[in-house]
Amino acid sequence: MTSESFDEFLASHQRRVECYLDRLLPGAEILPERLHEAMRHAVLGGGKRIRPLLTYATGACLGSDIALLDAPAAAVELIHAYSLVHDDLPAMDDDALRHGQPSCHVAFGEATAILVGDALQSLAFHVLAASSHEMIPASVRLRMVETLGHAAGSRGMAGGQQLDIDAIGAELELPELENMHIHKTGALICSSVRMATLAAGADAASVKQLNHYAKCIGLAFQVHDDILDVEGETEKLGKTSGKDQRGDKPSYPALIGLGAAHEMAARLIDDALRSLEGFGAPGEALRGIARYIVTRQH
Ligand code: IPE
Ligand code: IPE
Ligand code: MG
Ligand code: MG
Ligand code: MG
Repeated sequence: MTSESFDEFLASHQRRVECYLDRLLPGAEILPERLHEAMRHAVLGGGKRIRPLLTYATGACLGSDIALLDAPAAAVELIHAYSLVHDDLPAMDDDALRHGQPSCHVAFGEATAILVGDALQSLAFHVLAASSHEMIPASVRLRMVETLGHAAGSRGMAGGQQLDIDAIGAELELPELENMHIHKTGALICSSVRMATLAAGADAASVKQLNHYAKCIGLAFQVHDDILDVEGETEKLGKTSGKDQRGDKPSYPALIGLGAAHEMAARLIDDALRSLEGFGAPGEALRGIARYIVTRQH
């Protein structure tokens, strides 16, 4: 895949999931209007849509019908959007800017922002369970619910967020920092890939390779996020830079230095690319996403 065709892949699949999410979210004129407007602000206000892109790219790698992937792609993005709304709350990272706009609680108030998270999480499981795509057998949808539920919960993203909060001001060892990142960010990224392997009915060997790919890029994603927090500018990031240091958060640059953090992210991406070696041309979008994760500027 040339860099232009990868850019096209990104743009067309971002559009696809955004249209699906737009139709899924209740209109801002529907009661309770304030909650619906805030949910739309949180989901449709921006973002790279990396997790849905991973679901679509994994489906492409396995030769799936793309229509099978819209519900899981949207579901994981809804969980991600909710996690950001709660992550930005004053009780957590206290961040006033997200996607270059006021964070949800700044725009709509804390109580509404908490409810936005609740409602987006419910909607994610609703769309998976009630997916009108009869083409996805109920047994497969149940496995998707199980996968996403595990990834979002106390042994996945929410658990990782707890580790993050507990780590404020602490000096973590490298394995503890890695464990925190694997949970708070890696788990949802892994579920994006896993749900697509479920939709495709992939064989055990492919699942193993793709799972390894997802673990590597999931960790690399948060390492690069930590790097951008140091190297990036608020305007380009669309979120406040320098927050980790000011919030006394353990991060890869703080623990091992910026150079070593870059090297580590690059090593993880090489490892991810090696696990795609058996997939040939259909794996190109997944390869492109892996490279994009450590070259992105925001
Ligand atoms: C930011 O995730 C939070 C982390 C898990 C590091 P993204 O960088 O994927 O957020 P958006 O949706 O694209 O802004
Ligand atoms: C957020 O990590 C992870 C989740 C939302 C689960 P960060 O706190 O580093 O994300 P940003 O930098 O605010 O986007
Ligand atoms: Mg955080
Ligand atoms: Mg944050
Ligand atoms: Mg960050």
